[in-house]
Amino acid sequence: MSAPDVSLLEPDRLESARDAALAALAATGALDELPAVRTAHLGDRSPIALARRAIGGLPGPEKAEAGKRLNVVLQVVQAAYDERRTELEADRDVRVLAEETVDVTALPGRLPVGARHPLTTIQERAVDVFVAMGWELAEGPEVEHEWFNFDALNFGKDHPAREMQDTLFLGPEDSGLVMRTHTSPVQVRSLLTRDLPVYVVVPGRVYRADALDATHSPVFAQLEGLAVDEGITMAHLRGTLDAFASAMFGEGLKTRLRPSYFPFTEPSAELDLQCFACRGASAEPGGEPCRVCSSEGWIEVGGCGMVNPAVLRAAGVDPERYSGFAFGMGLDRAVMFRHGVTDIRDLYEGDQRFTLPFGTEG
Ligand code: PHE
Repeated sequence: MSAPDVSLLEPDRLESARDAALAALAATGALDELPAVRTAHLGDRSPIALARRAIGGLPGPEKAEAGKRLNVVLQVVQAAYDERRTELEADRDVRVLAEETVDVTALPGRLPVGARHPLTTIQERAVDVFVAMGWELAEGPEVEHEWFNFDALNFGKDHPAREMQDTLFLGPEDSGLVMRTHTSPVQVRSLLTRDLPVYVVVPGRVYRADALDATHSPVFAQLEGLAVDEGITMAHLRGTLDAFASAMFGEGLKTRLRPSYFPFTEPSAELDLQCFACRGASAEPGGEPCRVCSSEGWIEVGGCGMVNPAVLRAAGVDPERYSGFAFGMGLDRAVMFRHGVTDIRDLYEGDQRFTLPFGTEG
């Protein structure tokens, strides 16, 4: 190690070391520059530290004098350093407070909005069409008593539809409860609880013991309609269905009735809707093939008919005075045709990737 440089202890050398330190501190603009300034002016190899080490090299009588001078300088620089650090810390605190402010009045980011299920949307649109004609919305339970689901609707005790392959029975064995197989039990519930005349439209989920595949689901959606009044005829049924078809699927779209059988209507008919894609043109000679209706020109949508007097009697309505019509249609196929959905499971699996593209269509 080289000999201590005692000249560092001379008053003007110490003053210039002090002044350099004070100038450097004054020029320090940020807290993170401070350690370097400290090392340069107060660290082991700073002029002040070297001067302290040189004290031993002075002759005895000068040591005390030089030590005092050094201490004064050291205290001044140390005090200036402490003061500057306090100032810079305060600056930093002010800046952090401003930069990291939480604006509690700011609007939150938008949450994902999800989408309405197309079955819900079509149900609401269908119900709206009837409500606009003065009908009322009615609903009934999905767990239904056999009496409403079958007996009151004139199903014989041994009707095949009651058998296990069609109907989901609920235990215990004598509970008398089933998952409703159609929305028709709400016909009876409506007649029992409302004053006549009755005009109700009934959207709802129904259940059958069907295995799930691309075209069958043990749960599906129906829309039921019931009109019971004095003087109701089949013409009213036709007119109502045509009005509904036009409002729902396009102006002028026709309906077609084909003879059929249901225990609760007499006469009964299958209800076909003219294909809304080709409007029947695919079935004409030379017509372009249509994928929606398989070039049939018509799409089967449900059943209908005049309310069987036995049903009116079961619901306490006098069939001599009142008559009515009823219809029931499946909504799943309507949604599938409309939106090109080829697998019915997509409607019931609750996967958002299916519903999101439908957006928030009202
Ligand atoms: N409930 C019948 C079905 O599920 C449809 C229907 C309703 C038929 C009303 C006639 C009258 O298939």
